[in-house]
Amino acid sequence: MAEIAAATPVSALDLIEQRSSTRKFADAPITDDQRAAVLHAATRAPSAGAMMMYSIIDIQKQETLDRLSVLCDNQPFIAKAKWALIFVVDYCKWIDLFEHVGCFTDEFVQKTGRSPRRACGLGDFAIAAQDAVIAAQTAVIAAEAVGLGSCYIGDIVENAEEVGELLGLPAHTMPLSMLVFGVPHKERPVTPHPIENLVMSERYRRADAETMDAQIAEMDAMFRPHATEAGARVVDIYTRKHTSDFMVEMNRSMERWFGNWGAIEEE
Ligand SMILES: Cc1cc2nc3c(=O)[nH]c(=O)nc-3n(C[C@H](O)[C@H](O)[C@H](O)COP(=O)(O)O)c2cc1C
Repeated sequence: MAEIAAATPVSALDLIEQRSSTRKFADAPITDDQRAAVLHAATRAPSAGAMMMYSIIDIQKQETLDRLSVLCDNQPFIAKAKWALIFVVDYCKWIDLFEHVGCFTDEFVQKTGRSPRRACGLGDFAIAAQDAVIAAQTAVIAAEAVGLGSCYIGDIVENAEEVGELLGLPAHTMPLSMLVFGVPHKERPVTPHPIENLVMSERYRRADAETMDAQIAEMDAMFRPHATEAGARVVDIYTRKHTSDFMVEMNRSMERWFGNWGAIEEE
């Protein structure tokens, strides 16, 4: 690990500035040291109450990558990645621990006056999901530091039934973030990131027409410079993302995952 760090003396701000998503990978292996550095960095991410309410599923088998590439909205580059990590929002491990030490027994409830076993709620989800995503993003930055490119795969929340089966996910879990990794095929240009209407001083400020026009102009200049109509990027997002089949599937599948999150298991 020390060797890797010494080979890339780049500041954290430079790493953040230079990172962009990698979707084309060189045919170079990922070393054990690189894997260890990325996984270790993920575990160093902040965690609510240090409860580590996530699990990382480390995927290296080609057959699993192949299956995920189909289940995640048919994205072939997933199958060409050398490595994937799935960050599972995980309250199951705490439910198991509570049970293991006897928190769910009548005796414990009487002795402590605490409420008996309850379903996992959206509050539990809010903190656990942050744990999982922060760990994922820490892995992204660590990957950059050791010479690996990465890309998030948001479609991992689709096809809940098949993905749950493939990964063996129990109640009180949800596979919220997936990352694929590999050595970048070539130098990647940095993706432009629009910043209009992003940072608000002290209170939320809903965009007025003037702000929206500035936002649209910025996005069109970055992403649709040859478009003849203003707002081409917004229309494109509406038609290709907001009203897409994959969003229909994502919304359906997330209902399943939330059901799984709050499930009360049979005694
Ligand atoms: C939550 C999330 C889900 C994403 N899902 C996908 C995906 O399924 N496929 C893909 O090619 N890129 C995916 N991306 C990558 C984004 O498209 C990318 O981050 C964005 O275009 C900005 O580019 P950059 O990462 O190069 O700065 C995802 C990114 C995030 C944060």
